[in-house]
Amino acid sequence: MAPMEVFIYPTAQTAADQAADKIAESLRRNPRLVLGLATGSTMEPVYARLVSLHRDTGLDFSGCRTFNLDEYVGLPPGHPNSYRYYMEQHLFRHININPSNTHLPDGMAADLEAECARYEKLMALNGGIDLQLLGIGQNGHLGFNEPLSALDSRTHVQLLSGATRAQNGPHFIPPAQMPASALTMGMGSILAARRCLLLGTGEDKAQIIAEALEGPRTNRIPASALQQHPHCIVILDQLAANHLCLPQNLLSLAQTASLRRE
Ligand code: GLP
Repeated sequence: MAPMEVFIYPTAQTAADQAADKIAESLRRNPRLVLGLATGSTMEPVYARLVSLHRDTGLDFSGCRTFNLDEYVGLPPGHPNSYRYYMEQHLFRHININPSNTHLPDGMAADLEAECARYEKLMALNGGIDLQLLGIGQNGHLGFNEPLSALDSRTHVQLLSGATRAQNGPHFIPPAQMPASALTMGMGSILAARRCLLLGTGEDKAQIIAEALEGPRTNRIPASALQQHPHCIVILDQLAANHLCLPQNLLSLAQTASLRRE
């Protein structure tokens, strides 16, 4: 099995700070970083920290190019539930990134298949993703790659599962307004990133994190495919790590525990 490094921090805030610091370090090393981005509540403190690093230390995003994992079908960029809106609110408008370097699939495109092909081509033209930030759905989805997604899939239209509708529906008012489908990078697109960084926080992620990291690799749990990625790090808070079979003394170190698995 490919090595996977797991870091456990005492709180969601410290875990998110570490994730942001890893991104910042990559950006300082490579000012033209191609950064894959994720949405969801887990990422909000990550983006808040990146914004502070920009403001307080001058972290420079002027050469950075970003590609988001996914976008809902049928939501215009100004819709408060669209991922473009989320990214503008939480990150883009607070930093010195060139707006033309920020990319999300266009869920309003007339020809969605052509849009998926365009998005893949654009990532390739930019040299591919250097570092892909990932959250995890409660059913193990990455981006919107639902259980049973093909591991070699590229950006595609994805019909959203009942579990995902139950998880994300409450963000919509009323919940029935949630689109039935989304455009998402495929598992193949994600696994092609040179490095992946999975962030999981909170008790409600503990079970799926344990299955994804320590269970069998299966397309029933798309995130388990990260076990085969050659450069994947996982950052967790203690609550999200609670179901891992880690030696208890590692968890009780209370500060940082790291484990390299082979
Ligand atoms: C959405 C996104 C995923 C994200 C997930 C987790 O479904 N498409 O990329 O990982 O939300 O969201 P949260 O961080 O709110 O739990």
